[in-house]
Amino acid sequence: MTEKQPMRLRRSQLAVPGSSEKMLTKAAQSAADHVFCDLEDAVAPSAKPAARHTIVEALNSLDWGKKVRCVRINDVSTEWCHEDIITVVEGAHANLDTIMLPKPMSPSDVRFVDLLLSQLEAKLKIKKRIGIEILIEEVQALACVEDIAKASPRIESIIFGMGDYSASQQIDVREIGGESGYPGDIFHYPRFRIAMAARAAGVDPVDGPFGNFKDDEGYRRECKRGLALGFVGKWAIHPAQIDAALDVYSPRPQDVARAREMAEAYAKATAEGIGSVNVGGVMVDAASIRLLSNTIRRADLIGM
Ligand code: COA
Ligand code: MG
Repeated sequence: MTEKQPMRLRRSQLAVPGSSEKMLTKAAQSAADHVFCDLEDAVAPSAKPAARHTIVEALNSLDWGKKVRCVRINDVSTEWCHEDIITVVEGAHANLDTIMLPKPMSPSDVRFVDLLLSQLEAKLKIKKRIGIEILIEEVQALACVEDIAKASPRIESIIFGMGDYSASQQIDVREIGGESGYPGDIFHYPRFRIAMAARAAGVDPVDGPFGNFKDDEGYRRECKRGLALGFVGKWAIHPAQIDAALDVYSPRPQDVARAREMAEAYAKATAEGIGSVNVGGVMVDAASIRLLSNTIRRADLIGM
């Protein structure tokens, strides 16, 4: 990336149908780090034009606290995409942090959104840069995710959209993000590849939806699978999923304390000209500090 990305929390990204004033209000009051107001799959075609204005009104009038305010637009092959962007950006101006682009097939799909945002920012004299969050949910997109991840300096996150992805590959799952009977984790490969592409581009990998919002155990299992691969958070399609994602995607206080203790011991040792040190039977050197600093950076961002 040429410019540094803003540091934003994305442990829980709550999906909200943009046509529902009631759910938008609940979302603004929720504990999620990030809310995406949807114009795509959660809004019926006939309701999309009105939903743009409902979202603008919600962005401008509700108190969103420190949440990342995102709008998911329709994909570039639809009749709605350009007007989604124009109406939302002209209406909400700086009360919008990011645009989420579903179903990009190639880097040029992302560049379309990037160029339109640049034109609108210039016209409306919006000082801050509106970010882009990319959904990888087609087999063609996964096949070139490394190129898509670098398609625009606005990209802040790459999300694995396992619902559409399963349909695209014709994976046999009964519900979005659910078990398939596959021996092992059916989504290990796309998650691993997306995490690598995102990190190589300097942006956040984020895990997508889990449809059965009554299955807390299954949701937590999927959160842990993402966390282990370097993902920073997971979607919530219902408020009941927010707390589990915040919990799993926050470092444990004892791990943060241990990381700080080790970093301190290492700093003291290097000041004395020593490059590796024994902290409670564990070797700490420059590589350990790189790992530990990931935990410390996340804790600082959360305010732990
Ligand atoms: N955001 C904000 N509030 C939500 C919500 C969401 N995603 N999902 C549910 N709620 C609210 C409901 O309005 C309800 O509010 P109330 O208690 O004041 O009446 C409360 O949370 C409990 O909801 P519940 O009755 O359990 O569910 P529901 O039948 O109203 O809604 C869904 C279930 C699946 C239709 C709904 O959760 C939803 O639309 N989710 C988002 C879908 C989406 O955005 N999909 C695209 C991305 S995958
Ligand atoms: Mg989708």
